[in-house]
Amino acid sequence: MKDLYENEMKLEFLSKSNNEAFARITVAAFAAQLDPTIEELADIKTAVSEAVTNCIIHGYEDREGIIKIRTKIFRDTIIIEISDTGNGIENIDKAREPLYTSKPNLERSGMGFTIMESFMDDVKVESILGLGTKVTMTKKIKLLNKEKEEELKDSLLFT
Ligand SMILES: Nc1ncnc2c1ncn2[C@@H]1O[C@H](COP(=O)(O)OP(=O)(O)OP(=O)(O)O)[C@@H](O)[C@H]1O
Ligand SMILES: [Mg+2]
Repeated sequence: MKDLYENEMKLEFLSKSNNEAFARITVAAFAAQLDPTIEELADIKTAVSEAVTNCIIHGYEDREGIIKIRTKIFRDTIIIEISDTGNGIENIDKAREPLYTSKPNLERSGMGFTIMESFMDDVKVESILGLGTKVTMTKKIKLLNKEKEEELKDSLLFT
């Protein structure tokens, strides 16, 4: 029987917009050990990018703060926690609604949470006004079953 695979990494960086690319690439590099498809990796990058951008723009606004990312791998699933200790969200249900944005003047479209939800299997948002926000996203990486692949190849050869 295959051993249970577990791994974890933590990342901490300043809320500068240049660090958004750093965060998304670093999480993708960590996720690569699960052998994701290009699409799955792109989904993870986009979701991380949306969550980190939210910490920078809404969490800390014009000031600078620390963004933390904790990423865990548990069997074939990746769990990504992204948190700030900034403004917090007053009404989480409203914030998660498609097209809702508190900054329409900054050309925000209010689609960040909707994008995270569509690219990841699960998105949990915890927030306390004045204390900060934590977004926990989970995605199962669908491993290609080698045996099935072989069977499919065989059946194609003999028909
Ligand atoms: N880390 C955060 N700290 C404080 N408020 C947040 C945070 N993340 C999201 N919000 C609030 O939730 C709202 C919705 O976020 P969402 O990412 O869906 O849209 P947006 O950031 O406004 O626009 P877009 O992501 O499309 O540029 C934001 O407008 C903001 O009010
Ligand atoms: Mg956003």
